[in-house]
Amino acid sequence: MKQPIIVKNSGYVELKLIRDDRDGNLIILEALRDVPFEVKRLYYITNLENSFSIRGQHAHRELEQVIFCIQGSFTLGLDDGQNQQQVLMNKVNVGIKLGKMLWHTMEDFSIGCVLLVIASDYYSEADYIRDYAEFLQLVKK
Ligand code: TYD
Repeated sequence: MKQPIIVKNSGYVELKLIRDDRDGNLIILEALRDVPFEVKRLYYITNLENSFSIRGQHAHRELEQVIFCIQGSFTLGLDDGQNQQQVLMNKVNVGIKLGKMLWHTMEDFSIGCVLLVIASDYYSEADYIRDYAEFLQLVKK
């Protein structure tokens, strides 16, 4: 059973997985069906050979994203300003929604780990909140 997601503006996104015994797995994501937004951007993160790496450590004002671990595993830290939790990301077809105002960190990467993120909008540094104290101030409002 999947661990319940207790933070706000999050939740699981489970994609259809077609398992073909000899020929691998096919995983499908359809915008506005599997995710509640149009996909304007996707990015992926590779070469996470350094197990000390910590990525993320920010929240977004408006951007909505869904994060997947499409190879290997990592630990996703989620913090809505009130509740915190850690989720082990190790299922190729199970993502987590990173909604607005959700502080997130990615760490404990396995060797060969690959992250895939789909996003509701283009990159905008102005949408980032990179200071945790500022994040806490903004979520309290
Ligand atoms: P960042 O989002 O901070 O990475 P992570 O959360 O994975 O640790 O982005 C790292 C750098 O890359 C930062 O300088 C902004 C830049 N960047 C872009 O130019 N476009 C993008 O779409 C993203 C996601 C990042």
